[in-house]
Amino acid sequence: MKKYYLSFAAVLLGAVHVSGAGISHVHLTTPSMSIVFARDAEGTWLMPYYGARVKNAEDVLSLRFNPKRADGRIGVVAGQVKPASYSVYGSREIGIDVNKYGGLCVKHADGVMSSEMIGLQPEWVEDKQAQSHLVLPMKDEVYPFVVRQHVRTFADTDAIETWVEISNYERGAVELYRMDSAAIVFPLLGTDFRFLSLTGQWGCESQVSETSLERGQTVAISSRNGIRNAWFANPAFMLSVGGEATERTGRVLGGVLCWSGAWGISAQRDYADLLELRMGADNSNGAYKLAPGKTLVTPKAVLVWSESGKGKVSRELHRWARNHRMPHGRELRDIVLNSWEGAYFDFDEARLEGMMDGLKEMGGEMFVVDDGWFGNGRYARDNDRNGLGDWTVNTNKLPRGIRHLTDEAKKRSLKFGLWVEPEMINVTSELYERHPEWAMKGRTRSLGTGRGGTQCVLDLTNPAVVDDVSAQLSKILKDAPDIVYFKWDANANFFNVGSQTSKCDSNIYFDYTLGLYEILSRLRKERPDLVIQGCSSGGGRIEYGFLGYADEFWPSDDSDARERVFIQWGSNFFYPASAAAGHVTVVPNHQTKRVTPLKYRFDVAMSVRLGLELDPKKMSPEDLAFAKECIGAYKRIRPTVQQGELYRLVSPYGNTYASLMYVAADGSEAVVFLWGLNRGPKKDFVPPLRLDGLEGDAKYSIGEINLAKGSKTHSDAVGAVVRGDALMNGGLPVYLDAGDYDSAVFVLRKIK
Ligand code: DGJ
Repeated sequence: MKKYYLSFAAVLLGAVHVSGAGISHVHLTTPSMSIVFARDAEGTWLMPYYGARVKNAEDVLSLRFNPKRADGRIGVVAGQVKPASYSVYGSREIGIDVNKYGGLCVKHADGVMSSEMIGLQPEWVEDKQAQSHLVLPMKDEVYPFVVRQHVRTFADTDAIETWVEISNYERGAVELYRMDSAAIVFPLLGTDFRFLSLTGQWGCESQVSETSLERGQTVAISSRNGIRNAWFANPAFMLSVGGEATERTGRVLGGVLCWSGAWGISAQRDYADLLELRMGADNSNGAYKLAPGKTLVTPKAVLVWSESGKGKVSRELHRWARNHRMPHGRELRDIVLNSWEGAYFDFDEARLEGMMDGLKEMGGEMFVVDDGWFGNGRYARDNDRNGLGDWTVNTNKLPRGIRHLTDEAKKRSLKFGLWVEPEMINVTSELYERHPEWAMKGRTRSLGTGRGGTQCVLDLTNPAVVDDVSAQLSKILKDAPDIVYFKWDANANFFNVGSQTSKCDSNIYFDYTLGLYEILSRLRKERPDLVIQGCSSGGGRIEYGFLGYADEFWPSDDSDARERVFIQWGSNFFYPASAAAGHVTVVPNHQTKRVTPLKYRFDVAMSVRLGLELDPKKMSPEDLAFAKECIGAYKRIRPTVQQGELYRLVSPYGNTYASLMYVAADGSEAVVFLWGLNRGPKKDFVPPLRLDGLEGDAKYSIGEINLAKGSKTHSDAVGAVVRGDALMNGGLPVYLDAGDYDSAVFVLRKIK
C-alpha cells in the first residue's frame, strides 16, 4: 500500500493557497521520516516539511503556512519562505539569495537566462522496487521547457532518491549551466550545522573531515576529475543539524550522489539559517548543450534523515545500497586471492596455479588474476607501459589462454576473476595503431599521456568506441565463460579533455559517464551474474554511480592494516562492509614498509569483505595454518559482517585504538572488532566497550576468534553469558597488549 496522502486544496487546506484546482500537497513517508511537498500561490512546488515522521501533513502545513495572509504567500518567518523542492535560477522571489542561485540554470534557445517553473499536477510512477515514486512536473511559464522532479521512497529504509529529467521542447538547443539532481531549500532545520565528508588521495582515501557551517557560508565539495572522482572528495556528506551529532545522538541529514563523473555538492546556510543543498553532476567546465527534443536525466541523489545520530544515517544508506542499488547487494561476497601484490606483472601459468593451490589450502573461494595477462609481442603487458586496449591473452605468459586458468580454478573448486581496464588505451597498443582518433583529445591539441608515459583515456562519447569496448569485454567472457568476476580498474584522471570526433566538447564531462554506463549496462545484461569490483588506482571511484553496476570497490592501494583501519572507517560512513574489499598482504607492507602481525592484518581485513593479496607459496607453514583458521572463522561470521547493521563504537581519530561492531539482521549474532593503533603510555588500558544494537533483555554468550596459538583472550568476559543491557551500558571489558598492533575479534551469540 502506498503511504501518502493527496488532498485537495479547497477542501482540506485553508492555509495553502493554490492557483487553480487540483492536488495541493503530497505527503511521502519512509519508516521514520516524512516529506511534504506543496504548491504555493505562484504554483511553485515547495518542500515545507522534511524530518521525523508525522501522522498528518495538514498539521505540519498549518504550522508552516501563515493562515492569516490572504494573498496565500507562505511563511511569516523569513527562513520559511520558499523552501523550494527544486530551486531554479530566475525565481522571482526576492530577498532570499539561495532561491536566486538555484540548482538549474538554463540559457534558453533565444538567449534568456532565467527560468520560471510552474508546478503541474503530481504524477505517480508504477515502480515495483519502490514504496512510492512521485513525479513533480514543472513547466516554464513562457518556454516549452519541462523539468520533472522524481522522488522515490522505500519501505525498508529512510533513504530517498531524487533526480530530475530536463526536457527541451524549444526551437533550438538550450545550454545548461547548472543541472543539479537535488537543489532543495529546506524548511528551517536548526541553527547549528556541521558538515562531514571524506577526503584523500592515492594511498590514503576516505579520511574523515568535519567542519562547522556558519551563517552566510557555503561548504562545497566537488570533483572535476571525471574518472577518479572520489579521491580528493567523495560524493557523500553528513550534515549535523542543531548541534554536534554523535554516532547515537543528534539530527543528521546525510546524502550521496550516484555519479561516476565530475560532480559537486554544496550546502549554503543563509543569515536566517535557511539551508540550500545542491547535489549534481558538475559541468562548470562547459555548459551542457541540450538539443531540441532531447531529455537529460540527471544522476540520482540520495538523502537520509536521522533523529538519532550519524550511525543511523550509515545504516540506512547501507540498507538502501544492499537492497536497492548494488546488483547483488543481498549476496555474500567470496573470499578472494588477488594476484597483484603477490606477483605484479611477473607470472606464468605455473605461478598462478601455485597461488591457486595455496588459496585452496587456506579455504579461499575465488582467484583473481590482476594486471599483466594481455597484450602480445612488443605490446605485451609486462609492465604498465603497454597493451591497454588489446584485450587478448598474452600467449607468451599464458599459452593455454584464460580458459585454461578457469579450468584449473574449477579443478580446485575455486571461482575465477579477471582484471580489466576498459576505459584506457596505451599509445603502444594495436588498438591505438588502428584508431588513434579514439583517444580523448581536443582536435587541435597534442596528446598528453598518463601512467607509464603511454596511457590515454578512450573517448567514450564516441559510440564506435563504446561498441568496441563492449565487444572486447564480451569476447573475454565468451572465450572463458567461467569468469564470474571482473576487477574494473581505471588508472587515469580525465585528461586531454576533448573528443576528436565530436564537435561539442562541452558535453564531454557528462557524456563520457553516459558512455561508461552504456558499456556497463550491456555487460550486466549479457552477464547478470557477473560480480564487478570498481577500482580506480585504489579508491578513486568509491561512489554509488559505479556501485549501481558493481558490487564492491577497492578502498585503497594502501593495504597496510593500520592505515586500512582509517580508510575502511571512512568508507563505511556511506558504503557497506560487503562492498569494501580488505586484503591481507605481506609485511613489510609494500606501501608503508610497516610491519604488523598477521593476526592484526586478518582482524582488520575481516571487518569488511575478506581477501588476500600475496603469494601463498611464500608463507610459512605456521602463517598458512593461522590464515586457514581465520578464513574458516570469517566464513562463520560473514553474514553478520557483510549483511549486518554497523555500529561505530570508538573512532580511530584522536584515540589509540578503534572499535566497531556488526549486528546480524535477525539479531542472533554480533561481531565486535577492536584494533590497537599507535598506542601511548598506559598502553594496556582500554575502557570497557559500550556495545550497541543489542537487545537489552536478551542474553549473549561471549566468544573470541582469531586467537594466535597459546595467546590469552582480550576480555575476561570471554566464556560468560551476559544480558544486552549490561553490554551496552556497562560495556564489554577488553584489553590490548602493550605493542602497537594488538587486536581482537569478539563474537556474541544470542541465547535462544
Ligand atoms: C591499480 C590498482 O589499484 C591495483 O590494485 C592494481 O590493480 C593496479 N592498478 C594494476 O595495474
